[in-house]
Amino acid sequence: MSHRRTFLKQVAALAGAAGAAGAAGVGDLLAIDEAFERELASLGSNGERAEPFSGLRERYLLGKDITYFNNASIGTIPRPVHQAHVGYLALCETNPWLFMWGGAWEEPREAVRAKAADYMGCAASDVTFTHNTTEGFNTLAQGLELGPGDQVLFSSLNHDGASICWFYQAQRKGFAVKRFDFPVLDTPQLSAEDVLDIYDRQISSATRVLVLPHIDNVVGLRHPVKQLTQLARSRGVEIVAVDGAQSIGMLEVDVTDVGADVYCTSPHKWLQAPKGLGLMYIRAELRDAVRPMWVTWGQERWRGTARIFEDYGSRNLPEVISLGDAIDFQVKLGSKAKMERYEALWERFADAARASDTVVWRSPGSWDLSASVYALEIQGRQSRAVFDKLYHDYGFVFRPFATQGLNTIRISPNVYNTEAEIERFFDALAAA
Ligand SMILES: Cc1ncc(COP(=O)(O)O)c(C=O)c1O
Repeated sequence: MSHRRTFLKQVAALAGAAGAAGAAGVGDLLAIDEAFERELASLGSNGERAEPFSGLRERYLLGKDITYFNNASIGTIPRPVHQAHVGYLALCETNPWLFMWGGAWEEPREAVRAKAADYMGCAASDVTFTHNTTEGFNTLAQGLELGPGDQVLFSSLNHDGASICWFYQAQRKGFAVKRFDFPVLDTPQLSAEDVLDIYDRQISSATRVLVLPHIDNVVGLRHPVKQLTQLARSRGVEIVAVDGAQSIGMLEVDVTDVGADVYCTSPHKWLQAPKGLGLMYIRAELRDAVRPMWVTWGQERWRGTARIFEDYGSRNLPEVISLGDAIDFQVKLGSKAKMERYEALWERFADAARASDTVVWRSPGSWDLSASVYALEIQGRQSRAVFDKLYHDYGFVFRPFATQGLNTIRISPNVYNTEAEIERFFDALAAA
């Protein structure tokens, strides 16, 4: 039974007890749920010869006047997921006490946790609902017992959201943070072995914690996380914490297979879930070594599960519940079909860059080290100026970067983007 059905059954029982107003809310939600199921059922039937996922864009709320190539900054929610979310919000307001404190969403919330855990390849008891990746890393950095003599290591490709908390806690606790320069300008030539070698040279006997992005947000390098975790373990590193902000919903993530101790993510990007909800996996063996960031009443109940890190009072439960719908939507699209589409879009962009006199490809040179996040340098142009022109005059949404010696625009398409949009993009680039 889907988490929605479980939820609706339970809500119907509780709302029945609460009176007619609540029951009317459930009726509304049932209609939304049926619409969601219908939408899911009709996904993907676009005929064999059509461009994969063609027509999918219409299932989003994206404005007609823009071409959205900025999924790495923030995703967009599919219409049926959005409608379900709105339904939960409306229902909550029919009897706020019932839904927030009366237990109506207790079981559905745990069903969503189980679904998220399944999606990430771990046990439900190892998953914490955070608000985002940054919160996950803050929880870890403040909760770990680290002190003088300990080192936390990461590269310059590590996002600020997974970095700044370590500098802050280092000042308070006296441990060291080593942030090394990743040779980002060499990215197109790097192999997986080179990446391992880069990390191997930086790890020392002082390194207790290694932090790394699964996919970084600058050049979109898909780090060989499993091999890096094995390397770190073989070098005596105790804790490997992976930033999965750019991977969840894009790659098939299996945190158990990766072997990481901690995996923090932001489902609002590639999983296309409502904004403001994050997931953090924390390996059971590490749980007791991390002191919760939030402390409040009743928390003892959650000792022995990762929920101990989150139970800090009221929060936006409709958003948590709709994560289940977002996962259903992505599962229905199919991870294999999505990966094939990401690769096809990547090839299309890489080919166009190769064919151009002015575009330089700054991301990895092979798909197995790549993601749907890539950096293009437009020779002779400042990336900010390129963005201003293409956004304001043509409606292309992407992100300019001027960091670590790069002067690039970052393109991060999702499966709903089309060949025609890519063609228009390169035409606009040539004309601008
Ligand atoms: C790789 C990476 N890590 C962390 C973050 C921070 O995510 P959030 O703001 O959801 O915490 C981002 C955001 O773009 C990111 O790309």
